[in-house]
Amino acid sequence: MYDQPNLESTVSQNDIKISADKVQVYYGENHAIKDVSVEIEDKTVTAFIGPSGCGKSTFLRTLNRMNDTIDICRVEGNINLDGEDIYDPKVDPVQLRAKVGMVFQKPNPFPKSIYDNIAYGPRIHGLASSKAELDEIVEKSLRRGAIWEEVKDRLHAPGTGLSGGQQQRLCIARAIATEPEVLLMDEPCSALDPIATAQVEELIDELRSRYSVVIVTHSMQQAARVSQKTAFFHLGNLVEYDDTSKIFTNPTDERTESYITGRIG
Ligand SMILES: Nc1ncnc2c1ncn2[C@@H]1O[C@H](COP(=O)(O)OP(=O)(O)OP(=O)(O)O)[C@@H](O)[C@H]1O
Ligand SMILES: [Mg+2]
Repeated sequence: MYDQPNLESTVSQNDIKISADKVQVYYGENHAIKDVSVEIEDKTVTAFIGPSGCGKSTFLRTLNRMNDTIDICRVEGNINLDGEDIYDPKVDPVQLRAKVGMVFQKPNPFPKSIYDNIAYGPRIHGLASSKAELDEIVEKSLRRGAIWEEVKDRLHAPGTGLSGGQQQRLCIARAIATEPEVLLMDEPCSALDPIATAQVEELIDELRSRYSVVIVTHSMQQAARVSQKTAFFHLGNLVEYDDTSKIFTNPTDERTESYITGRIG
C-alpha cells in the first residue's frame, strides 16, 4: 500500500488580485453595468467576452478608474485591489494606473522615440535614479514585451515608425515599464494580422507568470487560447464566470451557450 497523493495540495489556487462587488456603471440615464461582482485572480489571464455594447470595455475601465475621465459616467459599488478600495478618495488615479496598466485596441505609441516611449512612465514615477538604471528598465521592458531584438539597434527612432504589431508590443512594453501588477487589454489584437496576433498572444501567456491579465476579445478562439478564466457579459450583466474550459465546453447559462455557438452576437 502507498499513500494517496493529497489532491487538495496539488490543485494550484491563485490569490484574488481584484475583487469587484455589486458594481453599477451609469452613463447619464444609461445603466451600462448592472450589479457585477467578480473576483479576478493573480497570475491568470481572464477573458471578457460578449456581444458588442454589453459593457466589456466599460467594466474593464472601472478596474483602473479610466471611467473617471468620462464626465457623464458614474460608478457605484466596490472594487478592491489586494484588499484596498481603489475608489477611496485617498487613492491617486495616476498611481493606480501605474499599478493597473492598460493597453488599447489601437496601438498608440507616443510621438517620441522608442526609448522615450518606455522611459516616460519610469521617469514620471521616479523609478530610476540614473541614466544607467533607466537604460536597464528600458531594455528589460522591451525584452519582456518581446520586441527588444527588433528594436535594439534603433532605440532613438520614432515609435510611430514601427509596424502595427511592433507598435502594439511597444505599447505592452510601455505598460510593463512601471512594474504594474495588473494589465488590462481592450481588444489588443483587433488591429493586427495573424502573425502579429500570434506574437502578442504568446507574450500574454508569458506575462501571466508575473501579472494578472484581463483581456477583452471578440474572438472566441483567442479567449480559448490565451485565458484560464472567462467572463461572459450580456446587456450589462455578468451572466457567467468560470474556467475557460468550462465556459467553452459546458456553459451553465443558455445565453452563454447561444453566444459561443454563434446564435447571439
Ligand atoms: N463614453 C461613453 N459615453 C456614453 N455611453 C457610453 C460610453 N462608452 C460606452 N457607453 C455605453 O455603454 C454601453 C456599453 O458599452 P461598452 O463600450 O462598454 O461595450 P463593449 O462590450 O465594450 O462593446 P464593443 O464590443 O462594441 O466594444 C453601451 O450602451 C454604450 O453605448
Ligand atoms: Mg469595447
